[in-house]
Amino acid sequence: MNELTGIFIQEHISLNALFNEYSKERNVERKNILMKDIHRQLFAHFKEEEMYYFKYEDNIKEIVLTLSRLKSEHELLTALIKKNNPDMPNFVKFLMVHEHIEENTIYPELEKHIKKEDIAALLKQLLKQ
Ligand SMILES: [Fe+2]
Ligand SMILES: [Fe+2]
Repeated sequence: MNELTGIFIQEHISLNALFNEYSKERNVERKNILMKDIHRQLFAHFKEEEMYYFKYEDNIKEIVLTLSRLKSEHELLTALIKKNNPDMPNFVKFLMVHEHIEENTIYPELEKHIKKEDIAALLKQLLKQ
């Protein structure tokens, strides 16, 4: 696994932990703070993935459809989370399937094609944010 994939998977783990914490939290104020963290981390993660995915989209014909599905899901998940009361259990189930496709199909496929210098450039961009 390259360093970039490692960061993305780590971000999935961190997001999943935040959702878990949110679902267990009963204090409304604390829930609001957690939701702000969820927004920030989720949007940053989508943005990073899209910088990575679409750089290679034209080179990898086999996964073009999956990439476009994932991009639409980012838009849908963004719209849902921006609602005040998204249906959380369903939202999380949907996100888990999305992450599963990325970790098992897209990240490994992109790893076969990405150039070392691009990994370094993308890592540099991610660390700047
Ligand atoms: Fe994603
Ligand atoms: Fe992801």
